[in-house]
Amino acid sequence: MAQDRELIRAALEAREKAYTPYSHFKVGAALLAKDGSVWTGCNIENAGYTPTNCAERTAFFKAVSEGQREFLAIAVVGGREGPVTEECAPCGVCRQVMAEFCDLDAFRVILAVDEAHYSTYTLREILPMAFVPSRL
Ligand code: THU
Repeated sequence: MAQDRELIRAALEAREKAYTPYSHFKVGAALLAKDGSVWTGCNIENAGYTPTNCAERTAFFKAVSEGQREFLAIAVVGGREGPVTEECAPCGVCRQVMAEFCDLDAFRVILAVDEAHYSTYTLREILPMAFVPSRL
């Protein structure tokens, strides 16, 4: 899908901004909101390690802090410094953040190597038995 490739391109660009002096593992994400806007993010590490923020959450928090609440898809690219060579699956914390705002069956998670090589999953596929807001 052309839109998937645009998101992957945006994620690859965002990855260039990753701040990773400790792991040297660079991740970029591009989040598509329902209104068509795209919110990018990179991972931002910290000398204290724990404060590190993943690329996916950077994208979500940028978008939500600007009033976005509804999302359609996210593209994620990641790997050690240099070109991406394999798909990078989001960590469990980022999957849980996705579940806060996204429909499990409608939200698409695009894991990419580049614009020509990627796989698409639903959020439910990567987060089975999700703990979702409606359970509270
Ligand atoms: N990281 C992400 O940004 N997203 C993921 O999906 C997996 C992990 C980051 C966190 C840390 O800066 C580095 O990758 C190594 O774990």
